[in-house]
Amino acid sequence: MATLKLPVFLSKVRGPNATLQKLLQTKSFKNALHKHFSSKNATPISTTAFPEFDSLTNLNCHEDLYKLSLERPELFWGKLARSRLKWEKDFHTVQDCDMTQGKVNWFLDGKINASVNCIDRHLVKYGDRIALIWEKDEPGSQEYITYKQLSEMVNRLSQTLLNHGVIRGDRVAIYLPCSPIAVAAMLACTRIGAIHSVVFAGFSAEALSGRILDAQAETVITANEEIRGGKTINLKKHVDEAVAKSPCVKRVFVYKLIDREIKMNKLDIPLEKAMSESSSKCQPTAMDSNDCLFMLYTSGSTGKPKGVAHSHGGYLTYAAVTFKHVFDYNEGEIFGCLADIGWITGHSYVVYGPLLNGATTVLYSSTPTYPDQGRYWETVERLKINHLYTAPTALRLLLKAGDSWVTKYDRSSLRKLGCVGEPLNHEAFEWYRDVVGENKSDVIDTWWQTETGGICLTPRPSNPGAEILPAMPMRPFFGIDPVLLDAEGKEVVGDDATGALCIRKPWPGMAYTIYGDHNRFIETYYQPFKGFYFSGDGAHRHPGGYYQITGRMDDVLNVSGHRLGTGEIENVMDDHPAVAETAVVGFEHDIKGEGIYAYIILKDEVTDTFEKISKELRELCKSRLASYAQPDIIQFTPGLPKTRSGKIMRRILRKVAANNTDDLGDISTLADPSIVQEIINNHQKII
Ligand code: WTA
Repeated sequence: MATLKLPVFLSKVRGPNATLQKLLQTKSFKNALHKHFSSKNATPISTTAFPEFDSLTNLNCHEDLYKLSLERPELFWGKLARSRLKWEKDFHTVQDCDMTQGKVNWFLDGKINASVNCIDRHLVKYGDRIALIWEKDEPGSQEYITYKQLSEMVNRLSQTLLNHGVIRGDRVAIYLPCSPIAVAAMLACTRIGAIHSVVFAGFSAEALSGRILDAQAETVITANEEIRGGKTINLKKHVDEAVAKSPCVKRVFVYKLIDREIKMNKLDIPLEKAMSESSSKCQPTAMDSNDCLFMLYTSGSTGKPKGVAHSHGGYLTYAAVTFKHVFDYNEGEIFGCLADIGWITGHSYVVYGPLLNGATTVLYSSTPTYPDQGRYWETVERLKINHLYTAPTALRLLLKAGDSWVTKYDRSSLRKLGCVGEPLNHEAFEWYRDVVGENKSDVIDTWWQTETGGICLTPRPSNPGAEILPAMPMRPFFGIDPVLLDAEGKEVVGDDATGALCIRKPWPGMAYTIYGDHNRFIETYYQPFKGFYFSGDGAHRHPGGYYQITGRMDDVLNVSGHRLGTGEIENVMDDHPAVAETAVVGFEHDIKGEGIYAYIILKDEVTDTFEKISKELRELCKSRLASYAQPDIIQFTPGLPKTRSGKIMRRILRKVAANNTDDLGDISTLADPSIVQEIINNHQKII
């Protein structure tokens, strides 16, 4: 296992950092900062949103509450966990965590069931409330599912799992698009104590089988087909291919999302039929607070994706509390998080956060531009969405389409406009605020990760009066103690500082392991900076203590808000028979945030054209990873800039990809410095 070496970190801040530098120079940004610091800000903040702390008379504002969350985490999280969730058995200790060891335990000895918290406890009062609005591919074809209906689906599905031999602790791979059956499948697993591993339905068969095998999942839940953006996607075909390579699989539940028959195999079980034959009541299992609730695979800097594991008590507490207070969610409002359930955003803010709060949540299963570029705004009007939560990449795409696509729809229902996944650039921020929100809704940039479970940096945690500065997530959420560290691991202090973004104190949403590889968990997150959680991101702290993310500091790319390890892409392309060696880097991309730039060395004997090989390489990335993993630019090169010890100097490749070759830094340590000019010349020929 390669450990990250500290001194390299800071030199690796790239791409988005250039964007940041540009942003810091813009007039509107400077104006906003000036306005902010010249105003007497510090609006007193109501803590009525936190009745748990009513008895504490010394809490007058957000800052007081934030201080309390850091200084007395036991009190803060203990009270919230007890009042916001229903426990089958109370916990005796709030936390037992040791950041130096990567040890994470929350709400010890507590027993809880996630599906009871997401559904059962709402039934008496709110059984007929809409839990899910399924926004299907065709505009106007949405379906509404009440809490009662969801309850029946979940009970029948959990009973079906039990009837077919799925037991507590089993891993269940869910390969479904964002839909009621997918939510029911997740919650059915939690009802019986099985661990769900949702695999984004846009992933290839190979990516799916890799995740099934890593988790040793015996059960897969999928559907025959889905329709997205007007196109039919044959999910079952991918599952068949994946299952053929995954001997651990014993059963595949197949749901008919589209009314079309498909060929069923030996392991396949028609899900509707099995559910109709199962009882509509399934006893929930009381899970230990620190048992695994789910795992979700995400990319790291090495080739193999990691199964980030979250536990019941901690994750549920954090999802419930962040949902309520980051978005200032009021009862009865419609929450439209447009992410897919295959990502952590879908887990925390499509499913768990909203349902734990008895909210109405939208399951968006189309694309941002189907049937046209007005789709999001037409959906807002039709469903009367109050909170919209999406990714900068979608905003950048839609803003290019022109304002008339937005303004022709009524957006008066919108109250909060959230964003996540990548740095929200200034232009997109302003467009979101001024055009989409007509300056009436707050824009909330939220920073967090699969590993953090929920939002960690966000402008207004329960702080209605606080000013929002453009294009940054600004303030830490309760319990989050952000720290910037330099290459030597020393804290960078002051209000105008850049460093590696770390978190000093434990918080309930933190992942507790990487499934099956606790050492990798410690090495990745807790060893680079002893005693701190290392996020892998760089950040800049502005005056006022406001944070802005500068981008990843490791070899992880962020393509349209999706994490991708450069190693993952290289591994796939290395398998092409004509390829001798590859090196992948990111470059700034207008829409995607970061694009994929691949340098390829071919074997000597290859006679095929570059064009043919490029096409095959893109196909390979699509079929083995996902569509978004295809390189944007492929450059064939006779060599790579390597040091004498054989290490690729990626800094140079990044600069060439960024067209920024004036200052390549010291290249004298390269084994063959002349290769650099050749790479630059070839780059200029292809762009
Ligand atoms: C990036 C998504 C800038 C960051 C919830 C992080 C962001 C990675 C922001 C996690 C933001 C997320 N500003 N960058 N507001 N939010 N990121 O695990 O690089 O899919 O490490 O979780 O996305 O991606 P993940």
